[in-house]
Amino acid sequence: MIIVLLGPPGAGKGTQGERLSERLGVPKISTGDVLRDAVRHGTRQGVEAKKYMDRGDLVPDEVILGIMRDVFAAESTRKGAILDGVVRTVAQAEGLATMLTELGRKVDAVLVFDVDDERLVKRLSARTVCDRCQTPYTGRAAGEPCDKCGGRLVRRKDDEPDAVRNRLRVYKAQTAPVIAWYAERQKTGARLLPIDADGTVNEVTERAMKALEQ
Ligand code: AP5
Repeated sequence: MIIVLLGPPGAGKGTQGERLSERLGVPKISTGDVLRDAVRHGTRQGVEAKKYMDRGDLVPDEVILGIMRDVFAAESTRKGAILDGVVRTVAQAEGLATMLTELGRKVDAVLVFDVDDERLVKRLSARTVCDRCQTPYTGRAAGEPCDKCGGRLVRRKDDEPDAVRNRLRVYKAQTAPVIAWYAERQKTGARLLPIDADGTVNEVTERAMKALEQ
């Protein structure tokens, strides 16, 4: 099962992606995590991506599609994948669909997490993430150890107010049209499932699972 997670920054794609991955037994792939890993390791891709990421802009479509080609060539995604933040432009949606068709595969469902802007800004201003495994936390200070892997919690540079405002702008301008793109292809393509993502983490997981099971 291939599931695309869509939603604005801070909507809970990473948090829910992890839980859905455990429940459904397929890996979660986050292009944000892949790119931050490249930045940390100082690869050429990382150095190039950092410029875009720090100010909250999107990295070029070709970079994302290159990552996706590697992801679907791997044995680990044979049963499926949860794609967290992987599709953010119509060109990426088209590119992914073409690539999957060539492999005889397709996106099965698109979960669209919906939360209002005010709550998103609150969540991101309170977030720290592990610098090793990238697990997000709320209410934990930078410098504390990660419960999962013992890494160090840090603040993300793109969680600063200016970058968050830009990420929200970019989402509305470039990613929101992707929802319409999937909606137009629902009859033959993936099911489009809107999820109210304002609630406890458990509530949102249950809403997502219920939507997928229907
Ligand atoms: P990415 O890392 O994917 O950032 P994002 O999409 O902005 O999403 P976030 O990680 O900020 O939020 P989230 O929805 O995962 O929420 P989370 O679960 O952490 O991408 C970063 C950058 O990489 C992009 O800006 C771009 O530059 C580049 N990039 C990546 N993919 C790309 C692509 N395809 N094309 C081009 N560029 C790309 O939750 C947020 C906080 O809220 C956490 O603290 C969490 O603990 C808390 N929380 C979660 N759920 C709840 C809840 N129900 N109630 C209360 N708190 C909650």
